[in-house]
Amino acid sequence: MSRIAYVNGQYLPHGNAAVHVEDRGFQFADAVYEVCEIRGGMIVDPTLHFERLERSLGELRIAMPMGRAAMLVVMRRMARLNRVHDGSIYIQVSRGQARRDHVFPSPEVPPTLVMTAKAVDPRKGEATAEVGVKVITVPDNRWERVDIKSVGLLPNCMAKQAAKEAGAREAWFVDETGHVTEGGSTNAWIVTADGVLVTRPAEFGILRGITRTIVLKVAAKLGLTVEERAFTVEEAKRAREAFLSAATTLVMPVVAIDEATIGNGAPGSTALSLRRAFHDSTEMVPI
Ligand code: PDD
Repeated sequence: MSRIAYVNGQYLPHGNAAVHVEDRGFQFADAVYEVCEIRGGMIVDPTLHFERLERSLGELRIAMPMGRAAMLVVMRRMARLNRVHDGSIYIQVSRGQARRDHVFPSPEVPPTLVMTAKAVDPRKGEATAEVGVKVITVPDNRWERVDIKSVGLLPNCMAKQAAKEAGAREAWFVDETGHVTEGGSTNAWIVTADGVLVTRPAEFGILRGITRTIVLKVAAKLGLTVEERAFTVEEAKRAREAFLSAATTLVMPVVAIDEATIGNGAPGSTALSLRRAFHDSTEMVPI
């Protein structure tokens, strides 16, 4: 069955789906995106994703292409058309199509809205979580507005490619003071020897992950002590546990950072508890 993409009001086979060559998303990465998990025929946390999408667009002065209710209709239809019971929906909004010029088009042009949906076997993630993943560390060479979920992801692609070539799943960006910011496409966490859950504050320097927000909620329910503060690579290497979080990975135990083994080299119990309890605290909307 061919996959279907949504482009500006049309549902098209992937082979025929395209944006204009002078779309500003293509020319300038002048676009933002969201990735929503689909689980058991449910869209996970659409409201939080809409809130973040609106914030990203607002920071760049791009208009929402349609209201939340209409966007949810498209998302549900995309999941059904692509028979995605488990997987994800990708949403991209660009400033639209205009003759190439760095400054914003004037008068404004309509934003471009693209969606794709992808099925992923959830057993794959579970199998990975049972053994955990390795991460490498790389200097954070991104711009400072990483709080905006922009499609300008070249440093992230370079970092994740370096991770892959080193036999690791993720790269953790490290700032000039030796503190971990976040992963190439995930947020970063550790559990200290005292059992304190630590993650970097999301005011600046990282993307405020939706999964991160839910993990904080789950941690509170489980009675865990949480500190939102930066941690160094050295502290992470000495930690009892480490893990990463994103809509695509959920809570994923980290068992090695560079050459250092974390804990006893097996996924930590805190990470696994958070992973198990995660979907009890999410908003679930049927497709
Ligand atoms: N990435 N940090 C970065 C840089 C990310 O790209 C992502 C998500 C996250 C986690 O955010 P959330 O929990 O809302 O998924 C943190 C998506 C999944 C991606 O680029 O595919």
